Amino acid sequence: MFGWGKQQVSTLALDGQAPVVLAKNETVLNGALRHGLAFPHSCKVGGCGACKCQLVSGQVRELTDSSYLLSREEIADRFILGCQSIPQGPVEVRLPANPLANQHIEGTLIHQRPLTHDISEIVIRLDTPVRYLPGQYASLRALGTTLPARCYSFAHAAPEAGTQEIAFFVRRVPQGGMSNWLLDSAALEQRLDIQASLGDFHLREGDGTLLCMAGGSGLAPLVALLEGALDSVAAQRPVYVLMGARTQRDLYYRDELAALKAHWQAPFEFIPVLSEEPADSDWRGRRGWVTEAIPADIRAGTQGYLCGPPPMIDAAIAVMTANGLAREQIFFDRFSDQSVK
Ligand SMILES: Cc1cc2nc3c(=O)[nH]c(=O)nc-3n(C[C@H](O)[C@H](O)[C@H](O)COP(=O)(O)OP(=O)(O)OC[C@H]3O[C@@H](n4cnc5c(N)ncnc54)[C@H](O)[C@@H]3O)c2cc1C
Ligand code: FES
Repeated sequence: MFGWGKQQVSTLALDGQAPVVLAKNETVLNGALRHGLAFPHSCKVGGCGACKCQLVSGQVRELTDSSYLLSREEIADRFILGCQSIPQGPVEVRLPANPLANQHIEGTLIHQRPLTHDISEIVIRLDTPVRYLPGQYASLRALGTTLPARCYSFAHAAPEAGTQEIAFFVRRVPQGGMSNWLLDSAALEQRLDIQASLGDFHLREGDGTLLCMAGGSGLAPLVALLEGALDSVAAQRPVYVLMGARTQRDLYYRDELAALKAHWQAPFEFIPVLSEEPADSDWRGRRGWVTEAIPADIRAGTQGYLCGPPPMIDAAIAVMTANGLAREQIFFDRFSDQSVK
């Protein structure tokens, strides 16, 4: 009954729900969204990993190599990127288990605080509390606009019972729809729709060093993760926070990190690295690429936590693994947008 010539009809069964019929060459993600099924996503171009899911049965054609986003174990367990996978016939797909994923809340943008020339902290007051793990992110949609939803990482830890005020560090992306909307003063008192809490970037158990690296607004989930660890045994683990920025005017949150360091119970080193600081400036810190500040000999037990633009993440993973850190001990969120992969 169905079919395009000899081609078999493609269907998608998501998390045990009734199968839906996909259009020709439609990806798992697009098909799910077209049928109104909730499916975590952000960039839609294979750059962020937000649409990671497990292929339970059936075959897909992958549009890109997913090995830079998925671990060897995940690939062996048939994890795929929903936005880059076109079903070849009936497929069954499972989303990663995330008990916090189905929170749908509205809120009001109540505060904007500039942190640098292009990054601000924004605060949203929610109608009801949201729960999340430090390191996770939310998908924000501006109500009353046609802007597509975009993902932003919670910038602070929250009590386990949840919080009704949430903050994000947002970087203004040139020509970027949502980031400019969020940072425009006209957005104050405007309403947003928030889907939370997404992603599997969070602190893992262990007692080794936390080797953290941030670029741009990527500091947000690391601040949340470290704040969340403060009152636990994790605060006895040595910490490096390597922060990559172009110039001194791109650095921020240094006082807050110093306060965090003062309460930490183990060595805590914050290392800003500037790539475009004028040679004749008063900067006495490190210069070059932030990846050059990665320790050459990484100790056993170390875990890597990386957040920021995809090129930084990819370069850091390459250096960290070359310096002895197992790929499985590196956790990251690629802040990809529609322009980069
Ligand atoms: C897991 C995750 C967490 C994130 N957390 C944060 C965070 O905490 N803080 C933060 O600031 N950002 C974060 N981001 C990035 C954020 O989600 C947005 O991608 C970013 O704010 C840009 O969205 P926008 O709507 O402003 O830009 P868009 O309107 O999507 O445009 C982005 C750029 O892409 C260009 N562009 C758009 N479409 C195309 C196209 N088809 N071809 C070529 N270029 C195009 C635009 O001109 C612009 O330069 C995160 C992303 C992910 C995936
Ligand atoms: S939405 Fe698929 S990788 Fe970003």
